[in-house]
Amino acid sequence: MSTTQVERFATNVLVVGAGAAGLRASIELADRGVQVLCVGKRRRDDAHTVLAAGGINAALATTDPEDSPEQHAADTLRESYWLADPRAVDVLARESPRAINELVGWGAQFARDEQGDLVQRFFGAHRYRRTCYAGDYTGREIQGTLVREAQRRRIDFHDNLYVTRLLVQDGQVFGAYGFDVDDGRRYVIFADAVILAAGGHTRIFRRSSSRRDENTGDAMRLALGAGCRLQDMELVQFHPTGMVHPEDWAGMLVTEAVRGEGGILRNAEGERYMERYDPERLELSTRDRVALANYLEIHHGRGSEHGAVFLDVSHLGREHVLDRLPRMYRQFVDAAMLDITREPMEVAPTAHYSMGGVRVDSQSHATDVAGLFAVGECAAGIHGANRLGGNSLAETVVFGRIVGEHAAEFSAGLEAQIRARQPLTDADDELSELLARRGEDFPRPIQRAVRDAMWEHAGVVRSERGLRAGLDRLADIEGQAAAMEVRPDIAGFDDVAHGFDLLAMIVAARATLVSALERRETRGAHNREDFPEQDPAQRANVIYDAEGAVSWQALPEAPAGVVALAAEGTTLEAAGKLLE
Ligand code: FUM
Repeated sequence: MSTTQVERFATNVLVVGAGAAGLRASIELADRGVQVLCVGKRRRDDAHTVLAAGGINAALATTDPEDSPEQHAADTLRESYWLADPRAVDVLARESPRAINELVGWGAQFARDEQGDLVQRFFGAHRYRRTCYAGDYTGREIQGTLVREAQRRRIDFHDNLYVTRLLVQDGQVFGAYGFDVDDGRRYVIFADAVILAAGGHTRIFRRSSSRRDENTGDAMRLALGAGCRLQDMELVQFHPTGMVHPEDWAGMLVTEAVRGEGGILRNAEGERYMERYDPERLELSTRDRVALANYLEIHHGRGSEHGAVFLDVSHLGREHVLDRLPRMYRQFVDAAMLDITREPMEVAPTAHYSMGGVRVDSQSHATDVAGLFAVGECAAGIHGANRLGGNSLAETVVFGRIVGEHAAEFSAGLEAQIRARQPLTDADDELSELLARRGEDFPRPIQRAVRDAMWEHAGVVRSERGLRAGLDRLADIEGQAAAMEVRPDIAGFDDVAHGFDLLAMIVAARATLVSALERRETRGAHNREDFPEQDPAQRANVIYDAEGAVSWQALPEAPAGVVALAAEGTTLEAAGKLLE
């Protein structure tokens, strides 16, 4: 065992992740008088939530008075291809108006009309306008609001703390182990309960709307290592519109609000091709359909020289674009000196959101491990095979509050606090071994190899042959990673964080490939060219465990009223996917 000095802390509840879900959970805990420590691997004011652009959903019925929580639930379930858990969706739809009002009460500046009412914009496949927004900086506004509220409550934070392991004894969590990314100092944090809010795994793909060191699958690795199961890891949402050019910016989000405000997609021949794929909803079709349409247009040679389709807002008027899409305007000027009020943007699909993740109870978000909860993008169950834009920000604040409540109850009900030496020793040894190792490669190039392999073999359209080739490639990469070297230097321990990110990416990539092989159908974002039909028998969750075994878990039926509302929504059959 290493003899390195380790700092020790104790708290009632440890929250891992300082994005909107982690912050909202921390606020709930503080309001219940529970001691909480919130840690994140980057600065709290720069958590991944700040990238969320176009909006947050709630059936407030301000812009469209016909809207209701029942219709919100119906839209969410139908567009999930009935793979979302109806119980969790019911909570999301019922509780999101309260969550928005709470944010507004805390000072969040969402767009309002001349009467002072909140305005709501269209997002794809919603029956009514129910997306509140702050220009295209909605995530930044919510994150800023929650950080302010957390600071007002004097919640303890530790930024730049990388958690390498959760500490578990006899099926119960008792804390976490990690290191400070700035100075390498090691930490043990003892806790009655732990809430994982550490994001998804979309950065395992070459083109991703996440930044380089976020959404690397850390939560999935921590959860599997602790004894949890993962669910539907194959269900990765590809956002239809990511940047393509220049290469340094490739993957970065071009918000759905662009289409919500009236943006039009065309191929290189000038055709508005969504008229072929979804004549009714056009650019505001579901994300999986628009992503597949964009992919197919490019794949069949109707894209630009950079491998993109064109998204045009020049007809909307300069003032409208600058008012509603200020971030997009700046983004394209900064990246390519392109004025989107005059010229179309080049866009293509980009990995955007993990719809699968840690398996949790639909109400409490408790995992298989006692005292361990998961919330936000790292948790599975709410979005099924296709997430509606704007539902993820709603999920963070709705379930952040709820998970805080349940973790508080768990802590209060604990008879005795656990301490065990071996899990701690194992965590300490793992870090020491990585630091001592000398090898051929550093983490960065191996991370790139994972991303390339996943983009090539598990992207928008998949097949058994491709997925198996992906697994073979991943086995080689894993061999390389086992011999990687990390080198902290005078600037800090980032390289060690990159090493652990890489280990997480490999875990998440394997779970994704294995689960994608198991789901032998086309459903939502999961397009299997060798199984192009939706299979009603596969309306179930794919479960992946720590041994790498997969199994199936049945889902409850949706309530009849919601099913009836969903049927009214659109004439387009969810099963009718277009694979040319
Ligand atoms: O396109 C967007 O603004 C993304 C929103 C979301 O993923 O919910």
